[in-house]
Amino acid sequence: KKVVLAYSGGVDTSVCIPYLMQEWGVEEVITLAADLGQGDELGPIQEKALRCGAVESLVIDGKEEFVQDYAFRSIQANALYENRYPLSTALARPLIAKMLVEAAEKYGADAVAHGCTGKGNDQVRFDISIMALNPNLKVLAPAREWKMSREETIAYGEKYGVESPVKKSSPYSIDRNILGRSIEAGPLEDPMTEPTEEIYLMTKAIADTPNEPEYVDIGFEKGIPVSLNGVILDPVVLVERLNEIAGNHGVGRLDMVENRVVGIKSREIYEAPALLVLIDAHRDLESLTQTADVTHYKNTVEEIYSQLIYRGLWYSPLKEALDAFIVKTQERVTGMVRVKFFKGNANVAGRKSDYSIYDAELATYGMEDQFDHKAAEGFIYIWGLPTKVWAQKMRG
Ligand code: ARG
Ligand code: SIN
Repeated sequence: KKVVLAYSGGVDTSVCIPYLMQEWGVEEVITLAADLGQGDELGPIQEKALRCGAVESLVIDGKEEFVQDYAFRSIQANALYENRYPLSTALARPLIAKMLVEAAEKYGADAVAHGCTGKGNDQVRFDISIMALNPNLKVLAPAREWKMSREETIAYGEKYGVESPVKKSSPYSIDRNILGRSIEAGPLEDPMTEPTEEIYLMTKAIADTPNEPEYVDIGFEKGIPVSLNGVILDPVVLVERLNEIAGNHGVGRLDMVENRVVGIKSREIYEAPALLVLIDAHRDLESLTQTADVTHYKNTVEEIYSQLIYRGLWYSPLKEALDAFIVKTQERVTGMVRVKFFKGNANVAGRKSDYSIYDAELATYGMEDQFDHKAAEGFIYIWGLPTKVWAQKMRG
C-alpha cells in the first residue's frame, strides 16, 4: 500500500510516517509539503521526511495558485466567517487537498493521509475536499485515532528515528501561510486571558507603529486586487507587500471565540493584515459600482459562502453555483480605493471607478441638485400607507 501524506515537518506529521508503516501496514509513504508562504525553510523539511522513513519527499510551491484561485475568490465574496474571520487557514486546506489528490493519482497511491486531530475543522476540510476531488481515494488520519499524548507521541517518534523537537515546544498551536497566522491553545484557552505581545509576528503593537499616516491606493479589476499605488503587481507580491504595510501600522489582528464545525467553541487569535484590508477595500468599491439590490442580495450570499469555506465545502455544487453569481457581480468592480493606515486603523479615505454609479447631481445638497423632491412625497405616501392604516386601526 502506498500513501501520500500532507507533511509540515512538525512532530505530529513526522510521527505519522513510522506510524502508518508500523501500525497500519503501509509500505510506502510519500510526503507532500505545500509551500503556501508559511516562511519555513522547505529544504530541511524535505530531508527530515526522508530521515523519518518516507520513500519520496515532495515540496510544491502553491503560493501563486493559493492567492489567485483561493484568496482572491474569497475577497470577491467578502468572505468573513461569523462576520470576522477572513478564513486565512480555512482557504489553504482545499488547495493542499487538491495537491494530495494530484500526487496520489500521479504516483498511483491508494490513499492520502493528514495529521489532523479529531477536534478541529481542518480534518473536515481535508476529508471532504479529498472525497470531492476523488471519491475513490481512502483518507487516513492517524492522529485522529492514535490516542497518544504529546509526550507519548514524541517518545513513539524517537523509537523510529524521528528526532524530538530541539527547543521546548511553544504552548500554542499555530498555523501560518501567506494570508495570515492562526494562534490557539495554551494560555489562550481562557477566553479572558489577553494574548501577550510576542505571539504576534505579522503585526506591530500600536506603541511601535509610525506616528505618520500612510496612504495606499489599491487597484481592483473585476473585484480582483491588481495594483498598489498604481503599480501592477504579481498577486503574491501584492499580498506580501500589503501584509508589510498593514502590519507595520498594527492593522490586522483579531481575537475571537468562534464556532467550530465539530460543535466546539474555540478561542482564536488571528493576524491577517492584507486579507482584512483587501476585503474592506473591495467591499467599498462594490458600494460605488453596484446597484443597491445586488449589494444587498450579495450580502446573504456572502454569509453562506463563508460558511461553506469554513465548513469544508470548497469543492461543492452550491459553492460552484454561488461562484457563478459572485463572478457576475464583479464585472464592473474595477477602480481604486485609497486606504489610510494609522495606529492600528485602515480606513477607506476615498474611492473612484470608471464604472461608478454614484451620481453627484442626484446626491448633492447644492444648487446643481437634480433630484425631484416632489416625487418623494408621493413615494412616502404609498410606502408608508400600510403603516398608516395599521396605526389608524390600532391606535384609533
Ligand atoms: N480556527 C481556524 C480555522 O478553523 C484555525 C485552525 C488552525 N489553527 C491552528 N492553530 N492550528 O480555520
Ligand atoms: C487541528 O486539530 O488540526 C487544528 C485545529 C483545527 O483544525 O481547527
